[in-house]
Amino acid sequence: MNLLDTAIQAARAAGREIMQRLPQERDVRSKGFRDIVTDADLAAQETLAAIIRTQFPQHGILSEEGLKPGNDAETIWVLDPVDGTTNYSHRFPCFSVSVGVAQGKELAAGVVFDPLRDHLFCAERGAGATLNGERLHVSGTDEAIHALVGLDFAATPSLRAKQMTAMVNLSKHVHTFRSIGSAALGLCYVASGWMDAYFHWTLSPWDCAAGGLIIAEAGGALTDVDGGPWNYMLPRCLATNGKLHRALLEAMKA
Ligand code: 2AM
Ligand code: CA
Repeated sequence: MNLLDTAIQAARAAGREIMQRLPQERDVRSKGFRDIVTDADLAAQETLAAIIRTQFPQHGILSEEGLKPGNDAETIWVLDPVDGTTNYSHRFPCFSVSVGVAQGKELAAGVVFDPLRDHLFCAERGAGATLNGERLHVSGTDEAIHALVGLDFAATPSLRAKQMTAMVNLSKHVHTFRSIGSAALGLCYVASGWMDAYFHWTLSPWDCAAGGLIIAEAGGALTDVDGGPWNYMLPRCLATNGKLHRALLEAMKA
């Protein structure tokens, strides 16, 4: 199997795992301030890792719930078994499985799977992005006043305050905002043209590796929120349809 086929197989299997556990009583534990993990996150991580290790034993795995790659791994699978754990724990119907494949700072393949809607977002570097097999393109919105802008909120009060300042500044220029609670899906919704932009201040690699490649392959643009270059290891990200990028970077400041 190639990287993308394995990523799809793993994401679908993890999706089945978290859906099966959704109606059951869940085990929710605190990992830190405003940070939780459930039994489903851990079970789905095992499901993902087992499939990847069987097919690519030489590759490294970086996953939110504690898996770390060895120093010598050239290819690293960057996994979020449940992106949107807060939503999942409340049964708020918006969460996903995110599977990225990185080679150095570059992303080779990415899959984000929404098991509630059976939305499978995929991308391979240089080969475009798809949703359930149909080619994806970012929106054509070219005026900020028409922009639907997604964001999710940092847990840390000081960073949340910075985000809120950017949001207040943007609010004078854009149509309105959505916060859906899964950064991976937020990024894919920009790739799909359903939102025009998405920003976050505290992303982890597993939240944005797959979604970042999917946006780039759908024709969008990604930078740091100050306009600097983006890679999946940076916490801050502004993702747009490209046309609005410069205007939204400026609008965030004032
Ligand atoms: P998670 O559900 O896997 O934890 C919600 O804010 C979105 O941002 C979710 O996708 C969440 O991922 C992600 N996120 C990552 N780091 C975060 C942080 N420090 N605080 C809040 N959300 C974070
Ligand atoms: Ca997670």
